[in-house]
Amino acid sequence: MKSLFKLAAICSYLTATISAAPSGLISIAIQNEFSGKSATVVLPADGRLRRLNDLFANTALNNNGQFFGTSARLVHPVADTTCTIRTNLRNFILNSSKPAVELDGNQNVALLKPVVLNGFQIQCQM
Ligand SMILES: *[C@@H]1O[C@H](CO)[C@@H](O)[C@H](O)[C@H]1NC(C)=O
Repeated sequence: MKSLFKLAAICSYLTATISAAPSGLISIAIQNEFSGKSATVVLPADGRLRRLNDLFANTALNNNGQFFGTSARLVHPVADTTCTIRTNLRNFILNSSKPAVELDGNQNVALLKPVVLNGFQIQCQM
């Protein structure tokens, strides 16, 4: 009886978690601390690589085809969801234990200018 109650509690918790973030879709926000601009886009967690230029084309981050940012974060991080931002130089991994990254790859040093995001790609999976 007790374990049945526990199961019911877990189920209602899972339902609440799922309704907070629609299953299969991920919200990712990119901020530019220098311009004060930020934008959030929703993309499917289907493992496909997508270009940031395309995803953020219709957002405030589009500066005549140039995209600048300082940090990225998962808006509703959930367990088992991982997004990878791929650049020529490195990969940034966002997940429930580390939902935000500084896009220069250095958490300890303040950025002097925003990072150019053109050419960056993102891939999310569950
Ligand atoms: C999140 O990603 C980091 C790498 O940035 C990894 O060390 C950690 O195990 C991951 N956590 C989960 C819950 O996947």
